[in-house]
Amino acid sequence: QLIDKGNHRHFMQKEIYEQPVVVAQTLGSYLRPLEEQVALPDMDFDLKSIERVAIVACGTASYVGMIGKYWIERFARVPVEVDVASEFRYRDPVLLSNTLGVVVSQSGETADTLAALRHMRANAVTTAGIINVPTSSMAREVDLLLPTHAGPEIGVASTKAFTCQLAVMAALAVNLARAKGRLTRDEEREIVRHLVEAPAALNAAIEHDEEIQAMAHTIAAARDVLYLGRGPDYPLALEGALKLKEISYIHAEGYASGEMKHGPIALIDDSVPLIVLAPSGPLFDKTVSNMQEAMARGAQVVLISDAEGLAAAGDGPIATIEMPKVHPLIAPLVYAVPVQLLAYHVAVAKGTDVDQPRNLAKSVTVE
Ligand code: G6P
Repeated sequence: QLIDKGNHRHFMQKEIYEQPVVVAQTLGSYLRPLEEQVALPDMDFDLKSIERVAIVACGTASYVGMIGKYWIERFARVPVEVDVASEFRYRDPVLLSNTLGVVVSQSGETADTLAALRHMRANAVTTAGIINVPTSSMAREVDLLLPTHAGPEIGVASTKAFTCQLAVMAALAVNLARAKGRLTRDEEREIVRHLVEAPAALNAAIEHDEEIQAMAHTIAAARDVLYLGRGPDYPLALEGALKLKEISYIHAEGYASGEMKHGPIALIDDSVPLIVLAPSGPLFDKTVSNMQEAMARGAQVVLISDAEGLAAAGDGPIATIEMPKVHPLIAPLVYAVPVQLLAYHVAVAKGTDVDQPRNLAKSVTVE
């Protein structure tokens, strides 16, 4: 298969732009629009019997696991634990019966995640894998393969695989919720309608590309950047910080908004940009008050929210990026776009090797 950059300067940029299409492809294999249902491939175990979920992954894929925890606990009321794969085996995890072990991996070959999968199987845990490469070791070894259809991802920093993994995680959460009797037909119908709109919402997010490029020079001058989010936006803050570190080499950290006053606030002055991810909703006011505390100390805030949130937040931020208003099961996919674009443009502004950042490998096959 010949893979080129098309009209794009870097694979990463191409892959960010591909997201509406590959997320649609991925959702297409899970959605049954006529029945207005979210389906999973056939499995030889009963989801209804699952009493806990253990999610294991590395890097960007581990943030999909963290977001999955919020979704599965909220919609299915099944307890979830999430580990980075390198910690999982060595802490000798307590694996009770009726646990569903879930690995998330683009390559399906990451050594630590593969070892974690084998550890679960050796302990009689039923496993599922959200995996992009269908011929990979993990894809062959899981009990239930939940494929993503992102296509080949060339940029070392994961982008389109991440949003496709989130789409599949949402499908898993909905199926678990239904199996556990936590989802009515009407609720599922409504979720399907929202999921169908995800590709259009991703397109709307991508339309802010030039605006984000315009603010990249300010961020590129920073030594440290902080990302804040609450709920499912907390793992996304971690992902934003990771993406920026990986390709621009700027020190960045993601924090749960409420944790800011337990440490990172000490770093804040007018040289530290603060990227705040805050869709409007029940958690919004709390995050905005954390943001205001930071602004009172001079932080240069970039607020990413929807129209309602931006209006309510007032004009303190140095910049805002307006996202469409979307369902909580879609928001992390949509808000991933501006953090990816921001990291991308900052890296380009700094002149780093965006697709092949120093010291990093696309697939880490040694421990
Ligand atoms: C490497 C890549 C990351 C990726 C991680 C996990 O660190 O640079 O982009 O998130 O591995 O890879 P996987 O293939 O298991 O998703």
